[in-house]
Amino acid sequence: MTRSLHSIAQLSPQDLRELLSQSLKNLSSDQIRASSVSALQSRTVSLLFYENSTRTRLSFESAIRALGGIPQSLAISHSSVQKGETLSDTALNLLALGACGFILRHPSPGASRQLTDALKDYPVPVINAGDGYHAHPTQALLDAATLLHHWGLSAEVDLPLRGKTILILGDIRHSRVARSNLELLPRLGAQVLISGPGSLLPSVRELTEFPSIKSVSFPDQMLCEVDAVMVLRLQVERQETGFIPSQSEYRHFWGLTRDRAQLLKNDALILHPGPANPGVEIDPEVMASSQSKILDQVKIGIATRKAVLAWAWGGIA
Ligand code: CP
Repeated sequence: MTRSLHSIAQLSPQDLRELLSQSLKNLSSDQIRASSVSALQSRTVSLLFYENSTRTRLSFESAIRALGGIPQSLAISHSSVQKGETLSDTALNLLALGACGFILRHPSPGASRQLTDALKDYPVPVINAGDGYHAHPTQALLDAATLLHHWGLSAEVDLPLRGKTILILGDIRHSRVARSNLELLPRLGAQVLISGPGSLLPSVRELTEFPSIKSVSFPDQMLCEVDAVMVLRLQVERQETGFIPSQSEYRHFWGLTRDRAQLLKNDALILHPGPANPGVEIDPEVMASSQSKILDQVKIGIATRKAVLAWAWGGIA
């Protein structure tokens, strides 16, 4: 059986437990179950990245290789997409060339589900590697795996993050990472807070979809209480003008500056999905601090994406 991954919401509690447990197992061992290896052995997985990426694309490539598969990245800017070829026609042609599934990043929210619908006669997995502002499920899974790993918590229990408070800070409105984490972290038992300029928060209507999330106007009052802070990139490329007066004012009120990071508990963790704007939403000294797990997130991304690929191409259990 093959499966696609479009969003956290589609995952059952059993799926979440399996994906996070397998991520943590992959971290402590390079041994992948034989059934998982054979699921991708010598098969080609196409990576279709219509938006730029460093971490997601390369970690998926590493994960595909680790499972015995062959990653095939289409250079969109040099492909026939530039002549107007549609997403579904591109995918159909890659299937004809031997692909057995897709890792898709696209600026359009819902693109991965649309591709699955377009390929309904071809039961191949489509893994969402980020679709506009909608979702980035593998990033949220690797964020949760990073927290579980650093806190020494098991993913096998119900609500493994119960008792933990996590602040998501910054440009939440444009962030697919935030949306996937707003779906995932409360399901794992965490109390999630959000903070950012009012213009960069989700609408009140959208927030009703996340009833357990608390919004705080400014982060300073909460930083001493949280167990982790997830800083988001200011997504300049998705903004029309006028969301913030200036980047320096954004840093002043909402950036995780060196001074503001001093308010955190000594053992609080600092996450950022990357790429960062150092000196805007987070200071370079904070990124390099011992509390920062930003580069660990990148490493754990390979372990999590191995788990996702094994789940998609034949299951973990
Ligand atoms: N976090 C993340 O998605 O990074 P990339 O855009 O580099 O893949």
